[in-house]
Amino acid sequence: MSLAKFVDALPLPSVIKPVGFRNGIPYFEVSMLQVKQKLHRDLPPTTVWGYNGTYPGPTFEARRNQPILVKWMNKLPFEHLLPVDRTIEGAEPNQPSVRTVVHLHGGRVRPENDGFPDAWFTRDFENIGPKFLHEVYYYPNCQRPAPLWYHDHALGITRLNVYAGLAGLYFIRDSHEESLNLPSGKFEIPLVIQDRSFFPNGELFYPSQPDPVPPPTPEVPFFPNPSIVPEFFGDTILVNGKVWPYLEVEPRKYRFRIYNGSNARFYTIRLSSDQEFVQIGSEGGLFEHPVLTNEIILAPAERADVIVDFSKHKGERIILTNSANAPFPDGTPPTPDLAQIMEFRVKTHLSHSDHSVIPNNLSCFERLDPGLAVTTRKNTLNEDTDRFGRLLLLLNHMEFRDLPITETPANGTVEIWELYNQTIDTHPIHLHLVQFQILDRATFTGNPLDPNNPNNPLIIGTRVPPKDNEKGWKDTVRANPGEVTRIIARFGPFTGIYPWHCHILEHEDHDMMRPYEVLQNHDFDPCIPIPGVCPDDSFTQCCHEDQEHCGCKEDHDQDESSSDHGHHHHHDESSSD
Ligand code: C2O
Ligand code: CU
Ligand code: CU
Repeated sequence: MSLAKFVDALPLPSVIKPVGFRNGIPYFEVSMLQVKQKLHRDLPPTTVWGYNGTYPGPTFEARRNQPILVKWMNKLPFEHLLPVDRTIEGAEPNQPSVRTVVHLHGGRVRPENDGFPDAWFTRDFENIGPKFLHEVYYYPNCQRPAPLWYHDHALGITRLNVYAGLAGLYFIRDSHEESLNLPSGKFEIPLVIQDRSFFPNGELFYPSQPDPVPPPTPEVPFFPNPSIVPEFFGDTILVNGKVWPYLEVEPRKYRFRIYNGSNARFYTIRLSSDQEFVQIGSEGGLFEHPVLTNEIILAPAERADVIVDFSKHKGERIILTNSANAPFPDGTPPTPDLAQIMEFRVKTHLSHSDHSVIPNNLSCFERLDPGLAVTTRKNTLNEDTDRFGRLLLLLNHMEFRDLPITETPANGTVEIWELYNQTIDTHPIHLHLVQFQILDRATFTGNPLDPNNPNNPLIIGTRVPPKDNEKGWKDTVRANPGEVTRIIARFGPFTGIYPWHCHILEHEDHDMMRPYEVLQNHDFDPCIPIPGVCPDDSFTQCCHEDQEHCGCKEDHDQDESSSDHGHHHHHDESSSD
């Protein structure tokens, strides 16, 4: 189906307000609802699942070191909007069709509030998953300002729940970032890029089987229906929930918070004016210095914080373009339709003059020293086949529920993780809890798990450092085929079990996700500052964030009313150490 481009204005998600306070902490309620939403001028309204009934969901505006509480509620129908494959781990026939759990992606959050895939719940909490602990989630926000997002994470159906619309934005801010005088207010705009396909009646299309369906074999006489597909690429591109929208801009600087919220599609973005993006940050927050680039690659879950200056383009129409192959990097080039994302229409006049700046020093930044690492872990990304002969993607040749948990960093320690990609595609690897840095990438041959095999020794090529716009804090990294990608992180400040996984959602569901466990470390006190760590990143700002403070143990008591504003004490977030 072909839809006219640039006929709908870019929508901006609304900002959510707390419904009250608990123990002085802002308390929010969010209901997941099935609603009809207009996604394009010429499409009938589409049935979507939205947080508080909107797709994307409402935006959270959080302040550094000011915790919030959120009660996520499932008010969805009992039957799924999209085809559920019952042969996938976690989605077996005895499991409810519609299960949800919310993850704050990029957040430094305790495991019990992180949205573990097995911590799902159904409508009105009637059924709960084996790891479900409580209804209200506590987000301490004890981390540097950053573009986070929240989305569904239920085991075995994440791809369907997110595709149905369950995703929204969550910004952490602080007074230092505000003092930089970056473009703000109506000149700071989030752009959530997602691909979708539609039936002519406007409903979301998601395949119920691969196309073509593999022919029957003696081993697999009946191919599952519905069946997961290796990955799904839609034929239209949406930004903030509209198909190919336009945005009217003034001839001045804008700050765009760009997210790839797609299931599987990568984007290599450019501006048709061939002007440069001034990239100022990535997933984990601001860079040390701005980086000029005319091209940015965004895998699913990657984010770019950019400044675009339209002042020399009065009256022009500028297209945000895409040139990424699907699958990435060696698949099919985008069709002319998929090579366009949205249009900027630059007005000829300013509403008032542009006093915003792009400072050369954006933030305090600690480059993690590989010499600090206490462990280097070899991790592999592998292709296998499941019992139906389907592609099964794995980390370290293990499925999500396979035991033991093999990645077990001690709290407060620095580790290097090597990601050996033995598949033919790039996989965006995401770790919960931490922000990390990319050390380098290198080609390799041989088997990383049998490095000294005389017939097939592991040989590593030249280690190439990342491009400047990949040198900031990241929570998702592109691990390219045939390469070993090395990342470094300080694990903590919380202990417990967190997922790490490929963020191509079809891969995450089948079964490219593993738990890792941050172990207790009696030699580490999160309340003692670590030398060299910037205040914005310090674990000390999280050291008192224990469960007693969060009031989330008792879910059903003391709903303080919103007339309680006066009791809300604001922490001083400008001095954390
Ligand atoms: Cu954005 Cu574990 O996910
Ligand atoms: Cu995450
Ligand atoms: Cu993958």
